[in-house]
Amino acid sequence: MSAVPKELRNLPGADAHELVRATPIRSVYVYEAPVRLWHWMNALSITVLAVTGYLIGSPLPTMPGEASDHFLMGYIRFAHFAAGYLFAVGMLGRVYWALVGNHHARELFTVPIFSKAYWLDIVMMFKWYAFLIPQPNRYVGHNPLARFAMFFVFVLLSVFMIVSGFALYGEGLGMGSWADKAFGWLIPLMGQSQDVHTWHHLGLWVMVIFVVLHVYAAIREDIMGRQSVVSTMVSGYRTFKD
Ligand code: HEM
Ligand code: HEM
Repeated sequence: MSAVPKELRNLPGADAHELVRATPIRSVYVYEAPVRLWHWMNALSITVLAVTGYLIGSPLPTMPGEASDHFLMGYIRFAHFAAGYLFAVGMLGRVYWALVGNHHARELFTVPIFSKAYWLDIVMMFKWYAFLIPQPNRYVGHNPLARFAMFFVFVLLSVFMIVSGFALYGEGLGMGSWADKAFGWLIPLMGQSQDVHTWHHLGLWVMVIFVVLHVYAAIREDIMGRQSVVSTMVSGYRTFKD
């Protein structure tokens, strides 16, 4: 009964609670349209890159007949490269929006590692995910742990996948091509072409682990946390349950 405002206390219990629940929930506009559009395009391009990349590394059995009749691996590689361009151009657009968008648009690229309060919040989130505390804090933007994983896993890995992907792409385009000139330096730096293939392939599994944990956390927070989560990446608005 303590959460019920004074003017409602003389109403019968159930009615008072109904009224309290009916009071408008405060909402905050967090993710602007370009961030939301980028998020879902990025999720789509990574899904295509992961499936086609896996098939490039573990090709399907040989098709019967003339290779030119079906061009199966050709289409798989084409889809990989097209999604690769979308992913890379999307990241450039996202960096631009971090410069011109609201302050939440910058959260993906900045981590306040020198703030003690930030680390205390991270410990708190760990405890919440491990079911050790009954309630997490409320966050308007990303929660502190999400922010850490998004920068140190997602952003850095994405840069590596783009640079290594275009270095390999440059091998296909040929010596002296734009991709070879811009990214070809990575191949001798990492050893030789097969080393770049192996690390680029390993990157797939790191990305898969990130996405599995990210989607789990997003849906879990929506159900168990104190604020809207998935709908926030659709409408842009964060609403609070209490
Ligand atoms: C390949 C798949 C995905 C990747 C790589 C990915 C990556 C990301 C990244 C980098 C952000 C930070 C956005 C920013 O600040 O600009 C983010 C936020 C978010 N993502 Fe995803 N995402 C993926 C799929 C999904 C899916 C399927 C869902 C829904 C179930 C989802 C729900 C969310 C939500 C709710 C946020 C905002 C979290 C918050 O407010 O703290 N994501 N995602
Ligand atoms: C999330 C991002 C990405 C993932 C998960 C991914 C995944 C993969 C995987 C698993 C392979 C097979 C490696 C092997 O075993 O040899 C591959 C190959 C390749 N990827 Fe990616 N990739 C990504 C981004 C990119 C980008 C941005 C490009 C740029 C165009 C790119 C271009 C290539 C090329 C050229 C190959 C070699 C194709 C071949 O040898 O036939 N990738 N990728």
